[in-house]
Amino acid sequence: MAETANPRRFTDFLRGLRAVRDFKRQPIPDDVVHDILEVARWSGSASNRQFAQIIVVHQPDSLQALSGVGGYAGHLRGAALAMILVMPGEWAEGETFDEGRMAERIMLAAAAHGLGASIGWFSPDGRAKAKQILGVPDPKVVRTAISMGYPARAPRRGKRKPLSDLVLEERYRP
Ligand SMILES: Cc1cc2nc3c(=O)[nH]c(=O)nc-3n(C[C@H](O)[C@H](O)[C@H](O)COP(=O)(O)O)c2cc1C
Repeated sequence: MAETANPRRFTDFLRGLRAVRDFKRQPIPDDVVHDILEVARWSGSASNRQFAQIIVVHQPDSLQALSGVGGYAGHLRGAALAMILVMPGEWAEGETFDEGRMAERIMLAAAAHGLGASIGWFSPDGRAKAKQILGVPDPKVVRTAISMGYPARAPRRGKRKPLSDLVLEERYRP
């Protein structure tokens, strides 16, 4: 259970998570990587089926290649590492939901260690190329990459719509 003595500290931390795409040239210690992966391991999944696998990519050549396959993952190029989520490709709806849950937990665990991270999605063509680079067979799906490293600068504040546009009381209204 989370510590409840100061819940606002935790909600501030959760609310403060921003995408970070610029990284220092500084490696991430192995024990930190391990801790983040342990958080990912405990991510919930539909029927606890634990669909996901994670490829941890450190090699600069591989990061460079993955950054250019197509899509919006150019930020992998300057990252200390990337965590690439591999899904079975058998149940799109459930797997995609689990993939999102795991990606978010990885980003939060990274932030807890003072790291920045960003999701990058490969385009449909890019997914095939990313699988080739990583040796992932069909029908598995490689769609989500998470770049990670120590932030080169403070993240942007970000923008969100007001709560009143997001939350409806009791019934839907347009
Ligand atoms: C499903 C999904 C796909 C995303 N794909 C990309 C992407 O391909 N490239 C990227 O730079 N950021 C990607 N992001 C990050 C979003 O751009 C980011 O969450 C959004 O801009 C809000 O940023 P902020 O939390 O820093 O304010 C993705 C996020 C999600 C949830």
